[in-house]
Amino acid sequence: MYINPAIKNGTTAHIAAIYTLYQKVASIKGGLARTKNEITTEYISLFVHKSIQSGIIIIAVDETTSAIVGEIHCYGSGIGVFAQVLGELTIAVDPDYQGKGIGRILFKKLLNTVINEKPEIIRIELIARESNTKAISFYESLGFKKEGRLEKRIQSASGGLEADIPMAWIRKY
Ligand SMILES: CC(C)(COP(=O)(O)OP(=O)(O)OC[C@H]1O[C@@H](n2cnc3c(N)ncnc32)[C@H](O)[C@@H]1OP(=O)(O)O)[C@@H](O)C(=O)NCCC(=O)NCCS
Repeated sequence: MYINPAIKNGTTAHIAAIYTLYQKVASIKGGLARTKNEITTEYISLFVHKSIQSGIIIIAVDETTSAIVGEIHCYGSGIGVFAQVLGELTIAVDPDYQGKGIGRILFKKLLNTVINEKPEIIRIELIARESNTKAISFYESLGFKKEGRLEKRIQSASGGLEADIPMAWIRKY
């Protein structure tokens, strides 16, 4: 069943609710790189501030509960020669709400914002662990392309090391 959440820009007023969302998403291994105890208010606050300052942050709200059930953000590096790049992209959807179309709604909103409101942005970068095949095929369906393979870069949920896959979306003219 697909739900129709409210889609809004994230603000600093949402930091506590985004923290709660990320704690929940990080409790399931194999998705976010950070573990639950690495999701701190400082981490959330830093990316919210950076995304507001030099990128995009969008949230999905279930209006029946007012809970933030999804979030996506990315931001610039602050380095002039990379002014056309948004990176550090992370998306997280509440496990109870995954598979209902929220991730796609958030991502499409982010890409449409870049296409229509940020003509200076030519490239959006992300990295996904190789075993997160659901996320990788999702990103490919949105126009992201694999750009290589970073061997043994990330620890697997099951132990051992696995490849990280750098991917990018590039503006079409
Ligand atoms: C990856 C994630 C953001 C996707 O969000 P979502 O709301 O579950 O995704 P959607 O329901 O919009 O589905 C998007 C696509 O993902 C795929 N997908 C969704 N659920 C799936 C499942 N259970 N199995 C396989 N593919 C699935 C489908 O390709 C779907 O495309 P469709 O719209 O054509 O059906 C979400 O699962 C999540 O937060 N995962 C944990 C954190 C994470 O992995 N973040 C990314 C780190 S790189």
